[in-house]
Amino acid sequence: MKKQLIELRVNGRTYEIAAEPNALLLDVLRQQLQLTGSKRGCDDSSCGACTVLVDGVPTLSCTVLAMSFAADEQPGPEIVTVEGIADRGALAAIQKAYGDWGGAQCGYCTPGFMVTVKALLDRNPEPSDEEIRHALSGNLCRCTGYTQMYQAIKAAIEAEQKGH
Ligand code: FES
Ligand code: FES
Repeated sequence: MKKQLIELRVNGRTYEIAAEPNALLLDVLRQQLQLTGSKRGCDDSSCGACTVLVDGVPTLSCTVLAMSFAADEQPGPEIVTVEGIADRGALAAIQKAYGDWGGAQCGYCTPGFMVTVKALLDRNPEPSDEEIRHALSGNLCRCTGYTQMYQAIKAAIEAEQKGH
C-alpha cells in the first residue's frame, strides 16, 4: 500500500512520517518513532497495554489508524505515551509510586495502567475507589499484582494532593 506523509503530534513534538493508510497507531509509535513503552498485549482490544492518551482521553492505540490523528491544516490531536507523562524529566506521581510500591511485576501492562491513571487524575484529582476501579476496568494485568498496583495508585493520588 502506498505510504503517505503525515504529521503526528506526540509527547510535545511534531513528527513527519511516511505511513501506510492502514498503519495502526501502535505500530507507528513503536516502529517508526521508537516509542516502545506502549505494548501489544492482545489481538482483540481487551487488555489495555497499548493505551495512549489522545487529547487526554485514554485510547487503545492497537485499534486506531495513525492516519486518523494526522494534522492537515489544523494542528492534529496531542498524543501522549507513557514516555511523555514525566514532567520536564521528573517522574510523574504514578511513575514514582509504582517504583515505591512495587506496582509492576513483569511490567508489560504498566504503561497502559500509568497513562490511564494519569488521565483519571488530570480530570478528577480525588477519585473514589469505585471511580478508580471504573477507570481501570479496561486495563488487565496478567501477573495479577493488583494489590500493589492499587496501593501505588492511592499513593500517587496522595502525592498529587500534597503537590509533589
Ligand atoms: S494491545 Fe491494545 S487492547 Fe490489547
Ligand atoms: S505486571 Fe505483568 S502483566 Fe501486569
